[in-house]
Amino acid sequence: MLEPPGIQRCAAVLAGALLLLLFALVLRQLLRQRRPAGFPPGPPRLPFIGNICSLAMSAELPHVYMRKQSRVYGEIFSLDLGGISTVVLNGYDIVKECLVHQSEIFADRPCFPLFMKMTKMGGLLNSRYGRGWIDHRRLAVNSFHYFGCGQKSFESKILEETQFLIDAIKTYKGKPLDLKQLITNAVSNITNLILFGERFTYEDTDFQHMIELFSENVELAASAPVFLYNAFPWIGILPFGKHQKLFRNADVVYDFLAGLIEKTAVNRKPHLPQHFVDAYLDEIDQGKNDPLSTFSKENLIFSVGELIIAGTETTTNVLRWAILFMALYPNIQGKDNLDLRVSTYI
Ligand code: HEM
Repeated sequence: MLEPPGIQRCAAVLAGALLLLLFALVLRQLLRQRRPAGFPPGPPRLPFIGNICSLAMSAELPHVYMRKQSRVYGEIFSLDLGGISTVVLNGYDIVKECLVHQSEIFADRPCFPLFMKMTKMGGLLNSRYGRGWIDHRRLAVNSFHYFGCGQKSFESKILEETQFLIDAIKTYKGKPLDLKQLITNAVSNITNLILFGERFTYEDTDFQHMIELFSENVELAASAPVFLYNAFPWIGILPFGKHQKLFRNADVVYDFLAGLIEKTAVNRKPHLPQHFVDAYLDEIDQGKNDPLSTFSKENLIFSVGELIIAGTETTTNVLRWAILFMALYPNIQGKDNLDLRVSTYI
């Protein structure tokens, strides 16, 4: 049966409009992908996905791929992560130049869809360079000094945690073990003392699970599928994929931290802070009549989580590398005052 000419015309106009929209989107994406004049050089890019595929498909780990690119394009080179122009720095001096000598220029954070969704650009680590950035860093630095390294008793608390770690290792009676979990617990407990005024036992599987999920999210956030989500946020409507796993993990982590903060705040005496959480809640109270205050319960949860993971992942990995090198080169073990011998099976 023939369709009336009116419907045919409507369908043709709709198809034309859709084609035009598609053309505009393609053009916009290609324009976004142009390397601006003076931008650092980098490997050839594919339309739309740029270098995401090379990063994901490379036989090596991402950092090995990037080190190889750096040999070709220099210690400052660029990658295109689906239209998001990214500059990679490789080398101690150049990283120091940017993060230390030019820190103000590099202080801001990009508004990636992932950060927007996870923390609305709030919290501590991913906040935009502005009042929230300054207020949260000031509070964190003061708290770490006041409840941590500025306290004479803090060194003995670190030594106490070290003893817990050594005792836990000794229970294996020389049998092989994976130190990752124990070191993670011990390291995070130093931060936990500052944040909550207490440590968590090595048997506390709830806390360990939270750290595992958070660590997994750090890895997921740097994975190719999540780079794709940042470049094309409409991918978020798909009910499956790594971005969904990341969101599910984050829900569990933030729920756990909210409960922990609530429990920690039970004994709080306003204006007599015993740890970071108390100090932050005082700031929320003080900012109640200030519409521009950035201190909030939500930002407290993000800040606590970010401080735990920033301190734990990094320090744990440094210690694990140190132990690996001591296992590989036993002759250097005597130079450290360890009362543990590190064997090559670790
Ligand atoms: C060996 C251990 C560590 C390494 C290698 C390390 C490395 C880094 C790096 C590379 C940055 C990024 C700097 C930037 O983007 O400007 C950073 C930022 C940060 N780290 Fe660490 N870190 C370590 C330990 C810690 C510890 C123990 C804590 C706290 C408990 C911590 C908290 C932070 C925070 C809050 C930031 C964000 C600073 C800002 O944006 O102003 N880190 N860290």
